[in-house]
Amino acid sequence: MSRNYLIAGNWKMNKTPKEAVALAEGVRKIKAGAGIRKMIAPSFVCIPAVVEVLKGSDVTLAAQNMASVEEGAHTGETSVLMLKELGVESVILGHSERRHVYGESDELINAKVKLALSHGLEVVLCVGETLEEREDGKVDEVCFRQIEGGLSGVSADGMKHIVIAYEPVWAIGTGKTATPLDAQTVHKACRGKIAELYSPSIANSVIIQYGGSVKPGNAAELMAQEDIDGALVGGASLDADSFAGIVAFDV
Ligand code: PGA
Repeated sequence: MSRNYLIAGNWKMNKTPKEAVALAEGVRKIKAGAGIRKMIAPSFVCIPAVVEVLKGSDVTLAAQNMASVEEGAHTGETSVLMLKELGVESVILGHSERRHVYGESDELINAKVKLALSHGLEVVLCVGETLEEREDGKVDEVCFRQIEGGLSGVSADGMKHIVIAYEPVWAIGTGKTATPLDAQTVHKACRGKIAELYSPSIANSVIIQYGGSVKPGNAAELMAQEDIDGALVGGASLDADSFAGIVAFDV
């Protein structure tokens, strides 16, 4: 398989700047196998300190969100210009907590995706169904709508800088993981949707991460699935040893 793996730690609203520095130092020391990239997404206020720790390292620095416009009267928001100046390389957009707790719509997420790409950031676009939607048999419908909505107006060239993260909402922070086969089924369907929207070759090269209670003990069987190309890790990324155990899934 030609796609690389991307193992990303989404620290959410955890770690003070000092704690973030210590964790970033631990992540920096983790040796990743060939074809495995590490990424971490600290909170905004920790980014300036973490940038210093990651200088010259092989760890990609991501933000957890950003505003849909460059600047102006948007109290409490963070601009792509600020992130770029600090040296942020990627941004997670459309995380389920942004969608479900903060009410972000596909239209808003799409505006953020396009703005991030126009500034040369890589985008990790999160999609995934709630338990109710799964029970109603709407997994594909929801994921396809979020993919199509989030990527609206993104060119084939822009797709080189897009990563998709499939995160079933019911599996996030709950200890419940989709079975590897269930996850593989959705990943394959999402790849098929991208082939339909773009082309089979673009679909084949897009990284699709799985997220939702990934830990050292279940990473290998998830990563072994043909269409699972990495993990977006919350809780288990808050400790360097446990993150290392996920990065080391293939050994
Ligand atoms: P979790 O979070 O690993 O704690 O389930 C994953 C995520 O929300 O990205």
